[in-house]
Amino acid sequence: MEPPALPPIFAPGLFDGKVVLVSGAAGGVGSAVAGLLSRLGARLVLTDADAARLDSVAKPLAALALPADIREVAACDAVVAATRAAYGQLDGLVNAAGVWVEGESARATEADWNRCIDVNLKGSFFLCSRAIPALAKARGAIVNLSSDAGVVGNAGAAIYCASKGGVTVMSRALALELAPLGVRVNALCPSDILSPMLKGQADRFGSDDPEGYLRRLLAHYPQGPAARFLSVDEVAANVAFLLSPAAAGITGAAQMLDFGLTAGY
Ligand SMILES: NC(=O)c1ccc[n+]([C@@H]2O[C@H](COP(=O)([O-])OP(=O)(O)OC[C@H]3O[C@@H](n4cnc5c(N)ncnc54)[C@H](O)[C@@H]3O)[C@@H](O)[C@H]2O)c1
Repeated sequence: MEPPALPPIFAPGLFDGKVVLVSGAAGGVGSAVAGLLSRLGARLVLTDADAARLDSVAKPLAALALPADIREVAACDAVVAATRAAYGQLDGLVNAAGVWVEGESARATEADWNRCIDVNLKGSFFLCSRAIPALAKARGAIVNLSSDAGVVGNAGAAIYCASKGGVTVMSRALALELAPLGVRVNALCPSDILSPMLKGQADRFGSDDPEGYLRRLLAHYPQGPAARFLSVDEVAANVAFLLSPAAAGITGAAQMLDFGLTAGY
């Protein structure tokens, strides 16, 4: 099933005067988040390891592009420092950088472990860590992209689950630590999203049958034949909601966005 076109649900100018830093901004979710927040008035700082694609997302939005590999703590330091130098404030942080790793655990490599944990968990943590002083000044908010796989196990994806389970509980711990500073922290936990990551998964791990791989994913959803993947715009809308004043009472949440995939069986 095709995802529906989304009607506007946010007031124009909702993020006027706000500065938001988005990681993974060259990717499917990150670029959709950047596009939506820009339309709603935010000034954006966008970061990603892919400098060329980052540039093509940032240019039309007049956003500051800071290419960086967030596996390095020094790179996270530099991104946050450059954000503060450029704008003198930071109101929101969206951690949307991520990589998918799949395969039999018996054959896992140290390189797979390091890449997945370092991008998904370590990089997200250190961007949060370095952004705390500025976010505290602004009484801002963080949204970390976790996953259904950050709440329940996915067979064949133990390393990815370890990284996203870490993101979910790290976000809860940060929410408690930063609540006295007025900073909210939430993990958004989407199911499969129509994005370059999902296409890459199907192409790489679909054993010459990417369509079959995608059909097998959809077979897990409770909607039966009406099951579908999320659009990046649906995910972006939920990120914008969690950053917005409407979500002032929401912190420490592992917000499911998964058609009930993890509700039980
Ligand atoms: N696509 C899905 O089905 C799905 C489902 C649930 C959760 N998620 C999560 O949502 C987030 C966004 O995923 P997406 O679908 O947009 O994926 P994507 O592959 O389209 O985008 C991810 C981006 O992260 C960037 N990145 C990778 N390694 C990096 C590094 N070392 N430093 C900086 N940037 C790096 C990539 O260059 C890419 O632009 C990820 O955290 C992902 O794990 C995705």
